[in-house]
Amino acid sequence: MDKLVIEGGKPLSGTIVIQGAKNAALPILAASLLADGTTTIDHVPDLLDIDVMLNILRELGCRAEHSGGTVVLDTETAHTSHVPESLMRQMRSSIFLMGPLLARFGETQVYQPGGCAIGERKIDLHLEGLKALGAEIEELGNRIICRADKLRGADIHLTFPSVGATENIMMAAALAEGRTTITNAAREPEIQDLQRFLNAMGAKIMGAGTDTITIDGVQSLTPCRYKVIPDRIVAGTIMVAAAATRGHVTLQNTQPAHLSSLIHVLRRAGVQIVVDGDIIKVGSATRPKAVERIVTSPYPAFPTDLQSQVMVLLTLADGVSVLKETIFEGRLKHVDELSRMGADIRVDMNAAFIRGVPRLYGATVEATDLRAGAALVIAGLAAQGKTVVEQIHHIDRGYEKIETMLSRLGARISRYSPVPNN
Ligand code: UD1
Repeated sequence: MDKLVIEGGKPLSGTIVIQGAKNAALPILAASLLADGTTTIDHVPDLLDIDVMLNILRELGCRAEHSGGTVVLDTETAHTSHVPESLMRQMRSSIFLMGPLLARFGETQVYQPGGCAIGERKIDLHLEGLKALGAEIEELGNRIICRADKLRGADIHLTFPSVGATENIMMAAALAEGRTTITNAAREPEIQDLQRFLNAMGAKIMGAGTDTITIDGVQSLTPCRYKVIPDRIVAGTIMVAAAATRGHVTLQNTQPAHLSSLIHVLRRAGVQIVVDGDIIKVGSATRPKAVERIVTSPYPAFPTDLQSQVMVLLTLADGVSVLKETIFEGRLKHVDELSRMGADIRVDMNAAFIRGVPRLYGATVEATDLRAGAALVIAGLAAQGKTVVEQIHHIDRGYEKIETMLSRLGARISRYSPVPNN
């Protein structure tokens, strides 16, 4: 397994261009199945999760090429709607394929994507949404068989604004007969991006970004060319890394509005932030201030995907901060690893009480999930001495060559791959 070795204590400095958003690209790739022919998607990051999605699409019979940030996907040759269990298990987001496959083939067979390191991650809202559109769903152990001769528009109220369920329903409803209304829909920017993409293919969808989305089904969609939005979580990770190392970094190709809750928190911590169009400048020369209370919640509130990274900054703050995780029950696993680096954190239920320390110290730590891994990298950059981050395949799921990106900002970070035995 690869690992990252970081010599900490050097402030980040320089300019970086932010990659395309993984969480926007994944549903957009799945949604491409709704149109027959060749769709071109630009600004698709080169990541493990994207590779898994493209491999699934190839397994379904599509032709897919990914080079220079562009995916060219020909769906005309898609011939099956059955996703193999082995691929399904590699990535939870494969569940996004249910909606488009059902709409295209009238049936699909997928498998439970299973739990994961950050929590149980149920799919009941996805299944209820598809049922409301007229699908019959049979669950045989891990296997889920879904059939619908015809999908019909429906009023669907989500009991929780699930990002994935909102996207799955939007994709299936795009080709359903009549109008679908989703209430208590998730409002994340990636949902707005999916709406723009589907509408570029000829769908009639309104309201993404609000809690009510209306989809007027159309008979067919046509392939198009589309550019994915910038990754707000990668941008946020770099912003926190700049602040934690007391550096100065300019981020290009961002959408600052997507980061307003993080910008607010960082400003409360005393970090200097200047926003100018799609550029964000982050600077910090002094010890951060504690932030009394941060609670993760659905967008536009503070994102769970930045909780672990911000926790690292707060471990170095002057005073006690409280960070409460409300989205995923298992998302405080990085606390143990940060404690090994000298952080002073007490966890009570889903809240972390963080007493800032003057410095962290390098240690060998293990990435337990994608964002926790990114947090440990930030901790390593800010710490005194050498940090080794293991299990970095988690990080490769969401950050395009993280060591290259950070080296460009002056970090002393290298990847080590095991030497094969023969
Ligand atoms: C997406 C993001 C992920 C982010 C999360 C929350 C992608 C590829 N991933 O994940 O990075 O952390 O949003 O912002 O976009 N839930 C149910 N039943 C369901 C679906 C979800 O109970 O059918 C629960 C989950 O267990 C979880 C919460 O709802 O506690 C949020 O999940 P959801 O918004 O669906 O997240 P994802 O779409 O999986």
